[in-house]
Amino acid sequence: MTPPKDIDSRVTELARSVSNSLNLSTSPTLNFHSPPTSFKQRGSFTDGGSGSTPGLSSISWKQLKPFDSKDIKVLLLENVNQTGVDILKAKGYQVEALKSSLPEDQLIERIKDVQVIGIRSKTKLTERVLSHAKNLIVIGCFCIGTNQVDLQYAAQQGIAVFNSPFSNSRSVAELVIAEIIALARQLTDRSMELHSGTWNKVSKGCWEIRGKTLGIVGYGHIGSQLSVLAESMGMSVIYYDVINLMGLGTARQVASLDELLDQADFVTLHVPETQDTKNLIGKTQLEKMKDGSYLLNNARGSVVDIPALIEAMRSGKIAGAALDVYPNEPAGNGDYFNNDLNTWARDLRSLKNLILTPHIGGSTEEAQSAIGVEVSEALVRYVNEGASLGAVNMPEVTLRSLTLEEPDSLRVIYIHKNVPGVLRQVNAVLAHHNVEKQNTDSRGEVAYLMADISDVREEEIKDLWQSLEELSSRIRTRVLY
Ligand SMILES: NC(=O)c1ccc[n+]([C@@H]2O[C@H](COP(=O)([O-])OP(=O)(O)OC[C@H]3O[C@@H](n4cnc5c(N)ncnc54)[C@H](O)[C@@H]3O)[C@@H](O)[C@H]2O)c1
Repeated sequence: MTPPKDIDSRVTELARSVSNSLNLSTSPTLNFHSPPTSFKQRGSFTDGGSGSTPGLSSISWKQLKPFDSKDIKVLLLENVNQTGVDILKAKGYQVEALKSSLPEDQLIERIKDVQVIGIRSKTKLTERVLSHAKNLIVIGCFCIGTNQVDLQYAAQQGIAVFNSPFSNSRSVAELVIAEIIALARQLTDRSMELHSGTWNKVSKGCWEIRGKTLGIVGYGHIGSQLSVLAESMGMSVIYYDVINLMGLGTARQVASLDELLDQADFVTLHVPETQDTKNLIGKTQLEKMKDGSYLLNNARGSVVDIPALIEAMRSGKIAGAALDVYPNEPAGNGDYFNNDLNTWARDLRSLKNLILTPHIGGSTEEAQSAIGVEVSEALVRYVNEGASLGAVNMPEVTLRSLTLEEPDSLRVIYIHKNVPGVLRQVNAVLAHHNVEKQNTDSRGEVAYLMADISDVREEEIKDLWQSLEELSSRIRTRVLY
């Protein structure tokens, strides 16, 4: 990727103006430099880059940026994985990475200054904090969940939020494989017995997993990974999903949950938490499972009716279970897994051949590293190209990249209130130019418009930006070129 170049003084003010409307009046310290000396002379961007079209490797993609990227300030909190830090630094951004989260007053001070913030689960980006974030355009949650961010308020301010929901799929799938074998061999019981000095060599009720049937409920990112791993160990795989999905290997989709419960020796859950999946496995479903079968839940705590599971295990109907997730989970590490947290905790803990883990399904070094890469790349795509694919609080919009064959083209991003008549007004502004391509989508109260327009003279850019800024529907205008 071509490093960003300073522009000459002629266009410095212009670049400041068009880069990010909310930055302008509020941050006198900002010093945007781009675009390159001539609006027409671009650095070549030939690696296909984010947002490029696959298979068009001979095309020179134009790197969009309304700024010199070294002026993009990024604050990373909570020890974001080094992979993520490296990607952002490699783009030339000014990156400050702190090991911990910040107290709210310090956070408010620091967030005023930055265009990008990266957090994990401890930093709370509330309306109060975000109301001070006048320069912020994007938040990266280097984790799975986004509950720590006021997503709606962020969207209303034109601040996109990205996370990494699928970077740990492989880690979960591998844990499930370990649990299947451990349950089949009563491994954790034997280990605990020997830890307490008891030698208990038994083979009764212990099985190989080869030839057994694994029933996967939810054949998404994790379920399908698991399917491949299980088959490679000689298991026969069936799965149930609410949508029709092609099975990997020889895995076979069954028509109903009941059919799966009827056939599977091991039932493993990989569905999201929704109204439909609440207590998906309760008393009735447990009764439908094979005698002496096993249940594994690494999805969400609400999916299994745990008191019903306790009964089914006590009766011997279920020979073993593995739980990684619970209806209530403590906020931090410590001796909290008791009846104050969940009324049945003591009963659960007393059961044999039950593997209890503290929501560690996705907790591996590899997953943390993959999260760093995924979120950082999403941040770069959003900052440099405006692509909102994967945003959790904004409409997902992208366009294929501009090429060097389109030297006088630029990209307009107009985040606006989702009210009638906006497109007509925006198109009236853009109508003076040739709109090469345009994409718009809405999500709740917020809409996101992206348009690539050509034949734009350098001196017209500020007017264009200004006209969009003056529309009453405006939340945020960005012009990238
Ligand atoms: N234990 C952990 O640390 C950990 C880590 C990552 C993910 N998870 C959880 O694992 C679950 C699955 O994650 P994923 O990444 O595979 O999700 P995904 O979205 O890729 O797949 C979920 C699948 O479930 C299907 N589904 C939805 N409702 C269903 C229903 N009622 N019955 C049957 N199928 C249904 C969907 O069609 C989809 O194919 C999620 O709940 C996620 O939160 C847990």
